[in-house]
Amino acid sequence: MLGPTAVCSSVKVLIYLAILCVGPYRSGVHPLNPACHLQIIKAVKEYEYMKEGDIMIGGVMTSHFHMKNVTFPWSKSTRLLCVSPNQQGYRYLVDFRYAVEQTNKDPARLPNLTLGYHIYDSCGDPRKAVRSILQILSGTREPVPNYSCVGKRNIAGFIGDLTSETTVPIAQILTLYGYSQISYGATDPLLSDRVTFPYFFRTVQSDEANYFALGKLLSHFGWTWVGIITSDDISGEREHHSLAKYLSREGVCIEFTIKINTNKEHTMKPNQYGIIIQGSSTGVIIISGTASTTFVIQLPILNNVLQEKTLILSSNWGNNNIVVGYAVDIFNYSLVFVPRYHYDLGTPEMSRFLEDLHPSKFPEDELIEDIFLMFHSCLSKDKNKNELYKYIYGNTLCNCTGQERITELYYFIGTNSPRVHLAVDIMSQALHEMLFIKDFIQYPYKYQLHRYLKKHQYSTQTGPTFLFDEHGEYISGLRIYNYIISAEGYLNQEPIGEFLPWESPDQQLNIISFIEWKTNTNEIPRAQCSDNCLPGFRKAPKPGAQSCCYDCVPCSEGEISNTTDSESCIRCPDVEWPNEEKSQCIAKMEEFLSYSDDVISVICLFISVLFFLITEVILGVFIKYQDTPIVRANNRSLSFLLLVSIKLSFLSVFLFLGRPVDITCMLRIITFGITFSIAVSSLLAKTIMVCVAFKATKPGSSWRKWLGVKLSNSVVLFCSSIQIIICMTWLAISPPFQELDIHTSPGTIIIQCNEGSAIGFYSVIGYMGLLAAVSFVLAFLARSLPDSFNEAKYITFSMLLFCSVWITMIPAYLSTKGKNTVCVEIFAILTSSAGLLASIFLPKCYTILLRPELNIKTSLLRN
Ligand SMILES: *[C@@H]1O[C@H](CO)[C@@H](O)[C@H](O)[C@H]1NC(C)=O
Ligand SMILES: *[C@@H]1O[C@H](CO)[C@@H](O)[C@H](O)[C@H]1NC(C)=O
Ligand SMILES: *[C@@H]1O[C@H](CO)[C@@H](O)[C@H](O)[C@H]1NC(C)=O
Ligand SMILES: *[C@@H]1O[C@H](CO)[C@@H](O)[C@H](O)[C@H]1NC(C)=O
Ligand SMILES: *[C@@H]1O[C@H](CO)[C@@H](O)[C@H](O)[C@H]1NC(C)=O
Ligand SMILES: *[C@@H]1O[C@H](CO)[C@@H](O)[C@H](O)[C@H]1NC(C)=O
Repeated sequence: MLGPTAVCSSVKVLIYLAILCVGPYRSGVHPLNPACHLQIIKAVKEYEYMKEGDIMIGGVMTSHFHMKNVTFPWSKSTRLLCVSPNQQGYRYLVDFRYAVEQTNKDPARLPNLTLGYHIYDSCGDPRKAVRSILQILSGTREPVPNYSCVGKRNIAGFIGDLTSETTVPIAQILTLYGYSQISYGATDPLLSDRVTFPYFFRTVQSDEANYFALGKLLSHFGWTWVGIITSDDISGEREHHSLAKYLSREGVCIEFTIKINTNKEHTMKPNQYGIIIQGSSTGVIIISGTASTTFVIQLPILNNVLQEKTLILSSNWGNNNIVVGYAVDIFNYSLVFVPRYHYDLGTPEMSRFLEDLHPSKFPEDELIEDIFLMFHSCLSKDKNKNELYKYIYGNTLCNCTGQERITELYYFIGTNSPRVHLAVDIMSQALHEMLFIKDFIQYPYKYQLHRYLKKHQYSTQTGPTFLFDEHGEYISGLRIYNYIISAEGYLNQEPIGEFLPWESPDQQLNIISFIEWKTNTNEIPRAQCSDNCLPGFRKAPKPGAQSCCYDCVPCSEGEISNTTDSESCIRCPDVEWPNEEKSQCIAKMEEFLSYSDDVISVICLFISVLFFLITEVILGVFIKYQDTPIVRANNRSLSFLLLVSIKLSFLSVFLFLGRPVDITCMLRIITFGITFSIAVSSLLAKTIMVCVAFKATKPGSSWRKWLGVKLSNSVVLFCSSIQIIICMTWLAISPPFQELDIHTSPGTIIIQCNEGSAIGFYSVIGYMGLLAAVSFVLAFLARSLPDSFNEAKYITFSMLLFCSVWITMIPAYLSTKGKNTVCVEIFAILTSSAGLLASIFLPKCYTILLRPELNIKTSLLRN
């Protein structure tokens, strides 16, 4: 920063704000064809540095920002001048001279040879840059193409320039002549083309690499929707193209692009651009294109609309951070990429070299006088120049004490980027290798030097070994700065992160410290067209909008998305199911009537056990009173058989509960089919016996011989064995099996028994129905036969109950699923068994236990 100036203390010159009053100037000429304009530039003052040597290095460097037609009010004449002398540019020039001096001091580098230089200031203008090249080649003030006035002069190669705009045309000329060139700032990807520019090298990397890093930074912060402000020229166009390419690789969309025309004065329409920026939703804007003052000085018009927008500066802006000073309010808080070099120039020797620089010691150095005029406000001996500076920059100048030092200026405190030093040093090391190691003695050198540059392994004591890559670029890491510009114009100097291209993709970008954001609440700015889709949702493109703008729609049933912003939902496997948020597949619930945690099971179990016990008690009663008439009259053994089968059917409920497996599925059918057919056939047998007994009471009836136990047993045996055969056939052909039903009910797996064969199932039921119907009809006919212990009406009633239960059960069975089907089955079994039990045995128990007077033979006989 500025040191205290004894005399001119009133003159505050901010490092960045120095040249604000200079209007924009731009050639307006296609930069690739500048040579025909040489005449125009003739009049411009030359800033020339020359030191003769055995081997010369040419230099074209930007130390003034640009050239401008200045009209002087006092003479009404117009002159084209180099304006805006710039500290950093001059520092690069000093680095150049220092590097040459160092080389000459080193006895091992180029022994018995001196290295010289011939440097011109290109003033940031391609035409002047081209003229400078020709001037250096011909060795005269007036350039003579393809003619060297200085016969012995031996130019090895060129260093320069800072901007792509000036570097591309001189690279084209130097390629024609076969001279090697090392640029210290041109980032245009065009220059990486080894066919077009075989002799071109640079100590920076091309924009491609920088935009790659920029894309990674955007995706690190989740920014997918950005604006771009670029320059409306060829390099702006090219940069926009490659920027768009790298952004789209990272899935970033461009909301708007503003091209600032830097050709004509004040062409910017603040309203037009202001409306675009104000209407934009992104909080992040990338600045690309030519980093020039003519660009930057137009930005403050947009100050209001850019208040809330965080700017990101690509590294060609970070390289030229002096332009940042022209719009401090806008660039405050911006993120800037700056290449990282591992070479340290801050030696005491360098400091001594800088301390020595003073206009009084170098009277022929025009530029240092300009710098002192500009930044120390020192009057020059040249009266015209004083007038000029007062007129152009409005500076107040005064006599200086001679104590002012260049080391008090911002770019001369501490270290500068070693880009120029590196370029000169590499060239002299390559010369050393060519001349003293490979013993190359053929003149001129120029056609060969690029071969040595290409393979040269550059090494110093302070830095790592380095080699140009196959495109002639210096591959460096990038440091990311969060520019906080103090009101006095100081920049903070601590990087907040780094980008290392050689690391693995997930470790390339490291943000190591806290970032101050331009937002009010200091939150990370938002740069998204649509909100992120949470897990459970997927992106649905909006018709006609860019890919970064989308709606979020929930995943459809059975599908999940487990990441933010998923493109599509994933279907869960068959046995799994989405959780409530649809962000994860979870195992489906298994549905079956379990013993442990199902109220229905407990109730069913309770009822079946209760009835089982009741049946047991009834059986006990019947056994105890088995010799009483009422028990004997109604075919004792059939009653016992009936009770046992009812008991079994109550127990069979257990088979329907719990997780079904193949064996229980089969057992269910067998027990259910067989116990019920035994029960119903014993009822049928009883009815038949009633009929036969009635017929047999008639004296001499042939029915008498049927009255024995044989008939009833045969009926039971015959009827049940048919059912057994049906069951066995079914089991043999297509047995029931356990089935997992994943489709019927979403979210649950129904574990159930598949009957295997519907025909089997309905045959069993149908046969039982047939038996029941026959016994119902017979019992109905026999209900009024005179017999004091005639059971027929009870059997009629029980069969009616039985049939109605099973008839109602069938539609219920068909219309329910899973657990409910099992419940229906259990209900049917329980009610029909209980019905049989109640209607057949309860009246008898009543008589046996409560009306024993009726249960005697006399009562039987009396009726
Ligand atoms: C500068 O002024 C001269 C004389 O008026 C004119 O010929 C020249 O074209 C101007 N140059 C630019 C770049 O405007
Ligand atoms: C440099 O010159 C000296 C004296 O002329 C000579 O002795 C020495 O060999 C030369 N060195 C080289 C590397 O040519
Ligand atoms: C340059 O001049 C040399 C001789 O001085 C000649 O051989 C060469 O062809 C010329 N090149 C061009 C491009 O005119
Ligand atoms: C600077 O010094 C010269 C000679 O010493 C003197 O003529 C001139 O007036 C001084 N200028 C200022 C601005 O002090
Ligand atoms: C930049 O921001 C810092 C931190 O808020 C503030 O102190 C400084 O004054 C700002 N600079 C300018 C030039 O507004
Ligand atoms: C998302 O789900 C997929 C497939 O189920 C799985 O491979 C991946 O690890 C999950 N990711 C996260 C972040 O859970």
